[in-house]
Parts: sequence; C-alpha cells; structure tokens
Amino acid sequence: MEKTNDKSKTFYITTPIYYPSDKLHIGHSYTTVAADAIARYKRLSGYDVYFLTGSDEHGQKIERKAKEKGVSPQKYVDDIVATFKDLWKLMNISNDGFVRTTDDYHIKSVQKIFRKLYEQGDIYKSTYSGHYCTPCESFWTEHQLVDGDCCPDCGRKTEIVEEESYFFKMSKYAPALIEHIKTHPEFIQPPARAKEMLSNFLEPGLEDLCVSRTSFKWGIPVDFDEKHVVYVWLDALSNYITKLGFYSDDDSLYKKYWPVDVHLVGKEIVRFHTIIWPIMLMALGEPLPKQVFGHGWLVLEGGKMSKSKGNVVDPVVLCNRYGVDAIRYFLLREVPFGADGTFSNEALIYRINSDLANDLGNLLSRTVGMQEKYFDGVVQRNCAKEEIDNFLISQAGLTVHNVEENMNALKIPEALQSIWELIDACNKYIDQTAPWILAKDEEKKERLGTVLYVLSECLRYVAVLLQAFLPDTAPKMFEQLGIADREDLKTIDSLRFGGLPVGTVVHKGENLFPRIDIKEELEALATGIGAKDEKKDEKEAEKVEKKEEKAEKKDAKKAHAAPTFPETIDFDDFCKVEMRVARVMDCKFAENSKKLLVFTLRVGESQRTILSGIRKWYGEPEKLIGKNVIIAANLAPRMIAGIESQGMILSAVNEDESELSMLTTVSEQFPDGTIVC
Ligand code: ME8
Ligand code: MG
Repeated sequence: MEKTNDKSKTFYITTPIYYPSDKLHIGHSYTTVAADAIARYKRLSGYDVYFLTGSDEHGQKIERKAKEKGVSPQKYVDDIVATFKDLWKLMNISNDGFVRTTDDYHIKSVQKIFRKLYEQGDIYKSTYSGHYCTPCESFWTEHQLVDGDCCPDCGRKTEIVEEESYFFKMSKYAPALIEHIKTHPEFIQPPARAKEMLSNFLEPGLEDLCVSRTSFKWGIPVDFDEKHVVYVWLDALSNYITKLGFYSDDDSLYKKYWPVDVHLVGKEIVRFHTIIWPIMLMALGEPLPKQVFGHGWLVLEGGKMSKSKGNVVDPVVLCNRYGVDAIRYFLLREVPFGADGTFSNEALIYRINSDLANDLGNLLSRTVGMQEKYFDGVVQRNCAKEEIDNFLISQAGLTVHNVEENMNALKIPEALQSIWELIDACNKYIDQTAPWILAKDEEKKERLGTVLYVLSECLRYVAVLLQAFLPDTAPKMFEQLGIADREDLKTIDSLRFGGLPVGTVVHKGENLFPRIDIKEELEALATGIGAKDEKKDEKEAEKVEKKEEKAEKKDAKKAHAAPTFPETIDFDDFCKVEMRVARVMDCKFAENSKKLLVFTLRVGESQRTILSGIRKWYGEPEKLIGKNVIIAANLAPRMIAGIESQGMILSAVNEDESELSMLTTVSEQFPDGTIVC
C-alpha cells in the first residue's frame, strides 16, 4: 500500500519567522527546538518532511533600529540574520529551508499576491486614521486600546497614523472562517485558543484591515503604486508559501507540501495565523493550513522575557555552558506544551543531573560497563523467558507506541516522559536482576548474557527514539552500543525486540552527561566567578573534621558508659522531631573529608543538602542515587566541612560499627516528603 511519493507521507512544519531586531533569546529557541523535534520525529517515521524557519525583516521597527545604529536596514538585518543561522546550527536545527523576507523570490511573490487581491476587488484604496503599535506592527481600533491609547498586546503607547492606505476586505470572508473553525476542531490548537479567537475577534465582527503604509520605506513596494509598502504581516505570513515557490516559475514544492501540517507559533501571534492568514488564503483560493498550534511562553520568574525588558536568556551562552542536548532536553521536557513554563537555572541543572546524568547516562555506562567486564563487550544470545524480562520487553514496545501517539498530538514532554519511563524500568531491572551476583556463578552465565542483552536492546530503543530530541546524544549511544554504522537499526521501523545482533561489540565511552554540582554552579552563576577560594575551604574542613572526631570519641565514651536502656523522653519531645522520606538525587564524596558523603535530597517540593559520616560503609555513593531514605528534617542546620548540612539521615549501626545501613523506605508508594511517624 505504501507509496513513497504519496502526499499523505509528506509533512510540512514551520516556525514563525523571527524579527531580526535583536539577537534571539531562549524563547525563540523554544519554538524552533520543538519544531525540530517534531520534524526529526516525522523523518524517523518515514515522512518526507519540509521544515521551514526564517526571518521577518521589514517594517518600521527595523527601519528605526538601523537608523539608530547608523547603518542601512539591509546591512542591519544581514548582520543579525547571520546570528540566527549560527544559532540554529549550534542548536542542531534540521531546517530544510530558511526564508528571508528580503529574498527576491519572496518579494516578487508577495507583489503578485497583493496585485491579485487588488485586481479581484478584495483590496481597495481608502484613508486610514487610527492607532498603530510599532513594536507589534499592529493596528488597533479605539475600543481595543487599553489605558487610553496603549497597545492591548504589549501595553506600550500606540502612535496615531493617518495615511492613504490599501484595505483588505477581511469582513467578506469572516463567516466562512467562523464556519471553518467550528467544523475543524483540529485547526486551532490547543482548543482554548480557538474559543478565544471566535469570541474575542471573529464574533464581534471583523473590520477591514489596513494592508499598506506610506510613512516609511523599509518594506515590499506595492508594484502598481510605489509609494506604498505592503503591511509587514501580509508580507510575513506569505513566507510560508513563497519559500515553496508559490506564484513562481517552479511551484513544485508548493504542490508537494501545501497545505502545511503545522504552523507552530507562540500564543501571542495565533491571532494573525488564524484570522488574517486563512482569510488571505481563502481570497487566493488556496487550501488552509491543517493546524496552527499556539504554544505558551517560556517565562522567567519575573515575567515574560523580552528583548526590550532586558531579562533575556542567551541560548548561545546556555548551550556553550551545558551542552546543546541538555538545553534541548530542558526546553522539550520542562514545559507542558501549550502552557506557559518557567525557566530557571535550578530547574535546568536539576533536569541535567537527574534525568540525563543519573537516569540515562548511568544506565548506558553501567550496561556497557558490565558487558565489557563479563563478556569482553560481546553481546550474548538472548534467552529471555522470565516474567521480569517479558515485562520490560513489552514496556519497550509500548514506549514506541506512546511516543508516536504523543508526538502526533504534539505532546512533546509526554513523549519524552514515556522514554524516561522505559529508562527507569531498565534501571529497576538492573537492581532486580543484580547482574553482579549472577556473575559470581558460572552456571548463571547464560542468564547474565540474557539480562545484558535485554538491557542493551532496550537502550537501542531509547537511542532510536532520542534521535528526534537529542541529536548529539543518540549517535554517542549508538557508538557505545556498537552499532554506529548500522543505519538499518536506527529507524523506528527497526524497533522489534531482538534487532540487536548477537556478537555486537560494545565500547564504553565518555559519560553522556557530566554531572553538575548544583550548589557550586548556582554560586558561580550568581557571582559570575567560576571557582571559589578552595585553599581556605580545605583548611576549614580539616579543622571541622578534627573537632568532629573529638566529639565523636566523646560520644562513643558516653555511649559505652550509658545504661542499656537509654533515658526516656516525653512523647511531646518525640513529636518535635520531624521525620520524612527523602529521595537521593545526588550523592558523592565530600571533597575535603575521608568520612563524609554529601547528599542532595529532594523532600517533596524542596531540596536540601545533608552530610553524613557514612562513607566507610558506602564506598560507591552513586549507587545510592534514586533511593528513598528517612531523614530528621527539622534539625537546626550546621556547618560540616564547610558545607551547611540541613538535617540527618537515619541509619542503623551495630555495636562495633562494622555494619551500617541507612534506613530506606520499604515501599515506593510513599513519595519523598512523606511524613514518617
Ligand atoms: O512575532 N516563550 O517575531 P518575534 C516562547 N516576526 N516562545 C517565544 C518567546 C517566549 N518567551 N519569545 C519568543 C514575530 N518566542 C513575527 C512572526 S510569523 C509569520 C511572523 C517565539 O521575533 C514564539 O514562537 O517576535 C513567538 O511567537 C515568536 O518567538 C515571536 O518572534
Ligand atoms: Mg513578538
């Protein structure tokens, strides 16, 4: 049934074309990375994809900026657009086209579109008098203004404009558009945005739109009336078809890919994409976009980031500091697609450490490490038959299905979440099968080989799916799994359990994601200085350790002298101690101490650091990550080895202290933060 040139197997996705009024910030990266993940996923699923992004270069705002800088508008946009392209290259964006509204083909096509609408009577000449918001390039009527004469979108003062203008008869097409929106629930997504368009804009009645300007020059000239330039939104929206050759000598791309599958845009410009744009297309007699998806904003704690507010997060700085895939992962995972989400350094570092370094990175390095240790890296025969194997294998299959469903619904965070559920299941499978114990018994060699096979094959699933999201990481995983040159094992179609050939040789490589010390990193970011005064710290730590040793000796003496039954305390006193379940997010050796481990724990919503003198019994701290322990949560914090310890982890210890075990919770039903009583 499948035909490769079948139009149903094409997929066209676009981002907004961004204004080159300044460098792009992490909010722009958010849209583009999301579109990229969707495009890559569709390619992986066998679609013929066209992914378009670009720059929206005309308009009064750009003309003014260039003037301020003392350069020509063209020079001004050329310089900034070069930084757009660099950013997309840095972020591994796989766009097939980049459209500039100053490109020749675009200008010619827009002129033809304008002329056609004029010739058929949908554009007419009149006089415009009203309010214009230059930063938003938007016209507003009296009743739309807020606080007297301010723009309802950005709150800035509008300017009064009175000019001879061309108008577009939007009102003529409004009933057809309302009908289309009502009969095509998938057209505007998420659905709340459709309701908003209908009730706020369409149902109150559309006014005809002013579509030309004479008060500035930096725009596409109306070719039959050269003192007018085309209104920037008419110019900009056309990019989605001009790049495909619409109204040009070669419109084969247009024929192949239009109508677009998804216009991905921020929620503030859904209005332009679901009212002006479809009406333009209706007037031209062309098919409407299949979907306009308006995602939410990435905000900083203080509100929406914007160039003019100055609270911008530079994606180049972030990518260079943490790695492109870490940033891509954060953007794709953290924010429910459609809703607003907050950007913070803490949240970013937390994601990197917990999801990428611990869950994914450790799984790969443990699996590959054991394969090397026990079988010289050679993948063994799969004789999976135990319940526990079948469970994991079926979960792998389910993951492929869940990712597909979620990606088709543009639920990108949910798609990633289902991949991470598989990763978690693999980590659990390691704990349950305990390969290091199997390895002690020669008779369990086949079982050991099978366990590692199941893990490696699951990791292949993970790597195949992650190609859409983390295009730097997935190839590193293939490399370590020993299938770097096996293109046939990297497609979604190849995901049938057992694809990984027996005899494949794995190679342990570098950690996929180095862990970040949260505390140090946040300090470094806050002060802008990389390292702190380490010498001073070391000395202090030594002092503290000596003091502690003394105290411990004293305590030990006391303990020996004490009666068999300790002194009793009141029930009320006992109630003062708040014990809680805490999840070990990170655990490592304290730098300046031979006894201490530093724990980073999550206790419900909050996170805390606790130092514990149990290194002697826990020589591999990373193995504690992910465990739930019990802590005394309301001890007054105290400084240990130069670090503030915020509580105590409860452990059981035998008399001569040869054995010690932290109290871990019996059941995972109780999440961290749960009170222990
Ligand atoms: O509006 N959070 O360009 P623009 C999420 N040229 N997304 C954000 C964001 C944030 N904080 N900030 C920006 C224009 N974006 C027009 C578009 S299309 C025919 C013309 C993203 O440079 C989001 O996609 O102001 C938003 O819609 C777009 O950048 C606005 O980019
Ligand atoms: Mg904007």
